[in-house]
Amino acid sequence: MVVYFSPLVLFAISLVILETCKLEAKTSKFNRQQLHPYYTPYIDTTVCRTMPGLTRAQINLCYRQPNATLVALQGLNEAVNECQYQFQGHRWNCSSLKTRGQNPYISSILQRGYKETAFAHAITSAGVAIAVAKGCSSGLLTNCGCDPKPYKMRKPRSMSNALSDTKWKWGGCSHNIHYGVKFSKLFLDSREKAEDMQSNVNLHNNQVGRMAVSNNMQIKCKCHGISGSCELKTCWRAVPDFRAVGKVLKDKFSSAILVDQKNLGKKAMRKFNKINQKNKKGKPKHKPWSHRKNKHKRDLSYDLLYYEKSPSFCEKDQALDIQGTVGRFCNRTTSTSADSCSNLCCGRGYNLIKRRIVERCKCKFIWCCEVKCEVCSSEEWMSVCK
Ligand SMILES: *[C@@H]1O[C@H](CO)[C@@H](O)[C@H](O)[C@H]1NC(C)=O
Ligand SMILES: *[C@@H]1O[C@H](CO)[C@@H](O)[C@H](O)[C@H]1NC(C)=O
Ligand SMILES: *[C@@H]1O[C@H](CO)[C@@H](O)[C@H](O)[C@H]1NC(C)=O
Repeated sequence: MVVYFSPLVLFAISLVILETCKLEAKTSKFNRQQLHPYYTPYIDTTVCRTMPGLTRAQINLCYRQPNATLVALQGLNEAVNECQYQFQGHRWNCSSLKTRGQNPYISSILQRGYKETAFAHAITSAGVAIAVAKGCSSGLLTNCGCDPKPYKMRKPRSMSNALSDTKWKWGGCSHNIHYGVKFSKLFLDSREKAEDMQSNVNLHNNQVGRMAVSNNMQIKCKCHGISGSCELKTCWRAVPDFRAVGKVLKDKFSSAILVDQKNLGKKAMRKFNKINQKNKKGKPKHKPWSHRKNKHKRDLSYDLLYYEKSPSFCEKDQALDIQGTVGRFCNRTTSTSADSCSNLCCGRGYNLIKRRIVERCKCKFIWCCEVKCEVCSSEEWMSVCK
């Protein structure tokens, strides 16, 4: 049987179909939003699938908050760059954290208990906190904005007495360090599931990194007034420069504390676990491994901890991701710094190689407006580890 519809009927039917589709779209969107508070359609989540070395918990977080995760990954990258800056010229110079897919956690150094491992955990955790705190304030992320917390109207220490009669108030957009710290915990602490010493030490060092940020927040101000007269200042809280955080953590690296397995009897471990679980805020409520009654024992809550003596980093060791120092440039005119030939070459000595340096020189300004230079070449003897 052939049914014939007039065009008008067809139009009416298609309208009905269209409406039902719309309705369905609405309800399903509504349901999904109920299921996942962070559900956002049309966001590129490719990175959640392609980034190597993410744990299950990290992948789930990535799908819920892809933008914040992207910002966090950027933070990891900046952390590795800062690590390379702080350790340039050292036998271990952090280059092994520059991994395929840019996830430093792939490096086998991160799976150990060295001082270097402690530093890497701290700086990556700080990097994520900084990047997300800034990301919130820049409006990149929808789950967070400027730090809404009102701070006490205390005059910033950085304001000199000469400016004491300047009126100022909190204003502008403070970096959201609370959210940055929170996300850093969600993203990185979630890796440390095992309740063993390694996880506990990693969690501790992550926390030290975040505190290096939150305890060094800066106050930045902007002047207002007729032609920059600065009659009124508005001030906001900003995360410290990464360079400053890197320096703080590098100092902590130098004085890092070797925790003995013996120090970590079952009782101490249980106590430490409790502390880390309770410790949801920036500062630890309890001080891990400090015995407040005994004043001679050191408070370790701000120290980097490690439990494994570092290798020399002199020889190549593929399994440990150590490249060795053969072929590294060293400084033969000093004996004290890390990059001195005696330290960097591990007693193997060095070769001298001649390097030609070509540069622009004797530049002259010619009126108007040109700069003319000559090309000078010179030779330099470089020392290279055997
Ligand atoms: C993620 O970033 C994209 C591009 O910047 C933006 O369009 C989107 O609204 C953001 N979504 C969330 C949940 O932040
Ligand atoms: C860091 O060390 C590696 C291997 O030891 C070396 O190949 C690389 O050139 C070094 N990087 C810098 C910036 O010195
Ligand atoms: C070697 O070290 C000395 C002393 O620290 C420094 O003055 C010099 O610039 C260094 N040389 C190189 C090539 O880095």
